[in-house]
Amino acid sequence: MKHLTNTRDLSTEEIHAILARARELKSTHHDNTLSNKLIITIFFENSTRTRSSFEVAAKRLGASVVSLDVSKSSTSKGETLFDTAANLDAMEPDAIIVRHKDSGVPKILSNYVNCPILNAGDGAHAHPSQALLDLFTIWEHFQFDSLHGKKIAIVGDIKNSRVANSNIELLTRFGLEVILVSPPHFMPQSSGLRKTHDLDSVINEVDIIMSLRTQTERHTNQSYASLKDYAHDYCITDKRMGDRDILLLHPGPVNRNIDIDDAMLEDPRCKVLKQVKNGVYIRMSILEKLILQA
Ligand code: CP
Repeated sequence: MKHLTNTRDLSTEEIHAILARARELKSTHHDNTLSNKLIITIFFENSTRTRSSFEVAAKRLGASVVSLDVSKSSTSKGETLFDTAANLDAMEPDAIIVRHKDSGVPKILSNYVNCPILNAGDGAHAHPSQALLDLFTIWEHFQFDSLHGKKIAIVGDIKNSRVANSNIELLTRFGLEVILVSPPHFMPQSSGLRKTHDLDSVINEVDIIMSLRTQTERHTNQSYASLKDYAHDYCITDKRMGDRDILLLHPGPVNRNIDIDDAMLEDPRCKVLKQVKNGVYIRMSILEKLILQA
């Protein structure tokens, strides 16, 4: 049985197949390949996009979805996470999708259940379906051609970002050059990648910018003067972008005028909503793979 706890759980060949299937699902009518399948979602952390995207993906393929309302579950009565998982597993779902504030929870849970576990984001560790939808959006933008040699700047709170972690692993595997751009307090210690604190020094050479949200909920103390100062140096504004032909991505939620300004969010180079749309097809493809090949 296969789980998806991080992008390394998938071989490059498997990822090619997931991307190809998502492309097919996006362009053609699809059958109810997951009819009679049951998927449970448990989100211990808030989500707008990932939870609804997985649920829409499952329903589009004909699966039934049960979403555990964590605030009303017996977790609030002291039931452990592992007992919660074991009890849900006893209902014989075909997959469990989990988000948790602590890194490593989906991986540990995968040892306690008899169905695939899909990580919908764990702490600052990994967000594999987000990275796969980002890769798909980049691949689609470049007309499904090779991405070898394309340059992407990942900008923002990289140190606390599970999206950055998963994208760094995946995008470098597909031949992209990743440049990390952030103030010193948001820069990871080691990565082996090119790093700069100066966004304007690399903007002329990149094909893609992935802006990230400042993960204030993961900061134990505020290590920067203000978000306004941060925005001055790192906000993707129309002035900063000029007329450059750069694909602009953001996993959401966007802090308007801190991560990306209002004008750039309206600009056709900004594909934030395209990412959301593609996320459904990628998650349909992931669900088919993990459930039908379990
Ligand atoms: N990109 C993402 O994980 O968004 P949500 O937190 O809304 O799921």
